[in-house]
Amino acid sequence: MNVGILTAGGDCPGLNAAIRAVGKTLTGAGYNLIGFRDGYEGLAFDRTMPLPPSTFSGILTVGGTILHTTRSKPNKMPLDGRYVDMSSTIVENYNRHGLECLICIGGGGTHKSALLLKELGLNIVTIPKTIDNDLAMTDGSIGFDTALDVATNAIDSLHSTAGSHKRIMLVEIMGHRAGWLTLGSGLAGGADVILIPEIPYDLEKVAKVLKMRAGEGKPFSIVPVAEGAVSVEESIEIARLEKLRDEAESKKDRALYKAQLEELTKLRYDRIFELGAKLEGLTGLETRVTILGHLQRGGTPSTVDRLRATQLGCEAARCVIRKRYGVMVALKNGATDLVPLEDVAGKRHVVTPDHPWVQDARKLGVSFGD
Ligand code: F6P
Repeated sequence: MNVGILTAGGDCPGLNAAIRAVGKTLTGAGYNLIGFRDGYEGLAFDRTMPLPPSTFSGILTVGGTILHTTRSKPNKMPLDGRYVDMSSTIVENYNRHGLECLICIGGGGTHKSALLLKELGLNIVTIPKTIDNDLAMTDGSIGFDTALDVATNAIDSLHSTAGSHKRIMLVEIMGHRAGWLTLGSGLAGGADVILIPEIPYDLEKVAKVLKMRAGEGKPFSIVPVAEGAVSVEESIEIARLEKLRDEAESKKDRALYKAQLEELTKLRYDRIFELGAKLEGLTGLETRVTILGHLQRGGTPSTVDRLRATQLGCEAARCVIRKRYGVMVALKNGATDLVPLEDVAGKRHVVTPDHPWVQDARKLGVSFGD
């Protein structure tokens, strides 16, 4: 029996470990595994990669994904400079390859697409992967732990140079919509101020904390900032546009507010430099900016990510063997759990203001700029 597998969305360390676990378990049980390249594009444009058992040797510790990946969606495939709905072609290709099931490894976008394909009648099993840790209904996802180590190590390294020069060090950490990576590495790295999307900041308050530290004889400060961190003013504007979008009566108005929202919340690499310049102006303290960027998605998977990928991959293969479809294999209290795709797609797991990490950080004197 043929089973398809793909990786979609942003890459991260641990994807190959998951492919290996799925592959070894399924080929060991007599299945034939077919890799689809470049995320859902592989199914849309029929780009395949045979995955004989020999493929799974030597990839456990290798970062990235041997299948490659894209963010393309089945119903929004880039083709000749425009976007095309290729969902029915995907169904045709699935059937032409005689697939019993398709295993999709990915994050939020991947799960929305997986649900769409399930609704079109495909047998789907998914594995959670995201360094942002923002997938609903699972205690963890492949990639987060490795990225957390990278970010924490970077904060550790910044401490000595910050101290030597008595500077404010802003460090931008990935997380467009969720602050887990910034919060976790900030707490583990002993940050002084942590800015995340879930807790809008007041710049004057941030500056006050930094000046107060300097006044107390702590002339340097480490400030991890999530990519998606927003000021109070920005968060009010976002809420206003979201309301207008949701209440818009015409399609045209809805599209207009949606576009304005996208413009306001899109990833901007100059944002952190603007923030740094403003803080330097407000505090009079020399400020430097570091952007960790894709370093957080590279390298060898951590031990925890290898274990998670192996656990999730083996369970996904068992789902195929038991014909248990339409589910994400989740992590729950150290074990695996099966969650209907409907409960995951379109949902986001974000930091809550009362999360223990937030509470502990506050107890340690960390400011969130609120
Ligand atoms: O979704 C994971 C993520 O790493 C986010 O944290 C980040 O905002 C985004 O991907 C970056 O995407 P890309 O690699 O496409 O620039």
